[in-house]
Amino acid sequence: MSGAVVVTGAASGIGKAIAKKIASRAAVVLVDLNEIKLAEVEEELLNGGHQVARVAGDVSKRATHIEAEIVARKLGILSGWVNCAGIGGIFPLHNLPENEEHLMKVWDVNQAGSLWGCAIAVENFIREKRKGAIVNISSVHGRQAYLDHALYEMSKAAVDALTRNVAVVYGPYGIRANSVAPGAVMSEAMIQSFTDAPDPDGRRRWLESSTPLKRIASPSEIADVVDFLLSDNSSYVTGQSIYVDGGWTSSLGSREVDKELAQRYNLEVDSGLPNR
Ligand SMILES: NC(=O)c1ccc[n+]([C@@H]2O[C@H](COP(=O)([O-])OP(=O)(O)OC[C@H]3O[C@@H](n4cnc5c(N)ncnc54)[C@H](O)[C@@H]3O)[C@@H](O)[C@H]2O)c1
Repeated sequence: MSGAVVVTGAASGIGKAIAKKIASRAAVVLVDLNEIKLAEVEEELLNGGHQVARVAGDVSKRATHIEAEIVARKLGILSGWVNCAGIGGIFPLHNLPENEEHLMKVWDVNQAGSLWGCAIAVENFIREKRKGAIVNISSVHGRQAYLDHALYEMSKAAVDALTRNVAVVYGPYGIRANSVAPGAVMSEAMIQSFTDAPDPDGRRRWLESSTPLKRIASPSEIADVVDFLLSDNSSYVTGQSIYVDGGWTSSLGSREVDKELAQRYNLEVDSGLPNR
């Protein structure tokens, strides 16, 4: 991968880790709503000698993506696009408020944000007659159900559906699209969710124990997979949702650890902390 890559949600968490990872071999256009944090990430990357530019804007608006594409063209040939900006939302279906602001936002940011990103990226690749790779960030929630998460889950399943459509319709012209579906990741949003939880330690322990690898991922572990999917190393991978979830979606729900095995071979169960 060379040229320019657009990364949305680049001011924080997973998006920031993706931007930092791919900056070593491509120019990066950072897109985010949070202007202050966006400028900080840009400065950090510029100080590291990387080619980078920023677009402050809302991904649910088409204009933000158009601006990002124009800025990308100034940096180089557009080769990749990552739709990472996304927000959570917890709403019980049996008590769904009408026209609630945050409810509509989940819809707009997660679905429209990814839709416009894919549309503008594909338009560029086709117009320029160039191959390109798109990565959408979905979630384990796109496949598995959890209490009061219907809206978020629907939005992430939509992202996976969008990914398949792009892969099938534009594959003949060398355009690839894949989703990365993370499990629990120690991003700023996750840290905030611990702060907000009535029992932060309990919530953390629950996430760790629900994951076969017994720990929460670091954002860089998600970025590594995105980097692979943008690169020619994944040249025959398209239309897939890749679960980067520590094995979570493979489990039948058991959190049991084989203690006898651990004792017999003096094995330690992972501490729960990200490796890096
Ligand atoms: N952290 C997790 O455990 C986890 C798990 C599965 C999926 N995800 C997905 O990963 C993505 C990144 O999540 P994160 O945990 O790094 O969150 P985060 O809150 O740390 O980062 C999200 C970034 O998106 C930006 N953003 C939000 N709304 C925007 C908008 N309308 N326009 C432009 N930018 C906007 C925010 O300002 C923020 O910088 C999201 O799509 C999320 O659904 C996260």
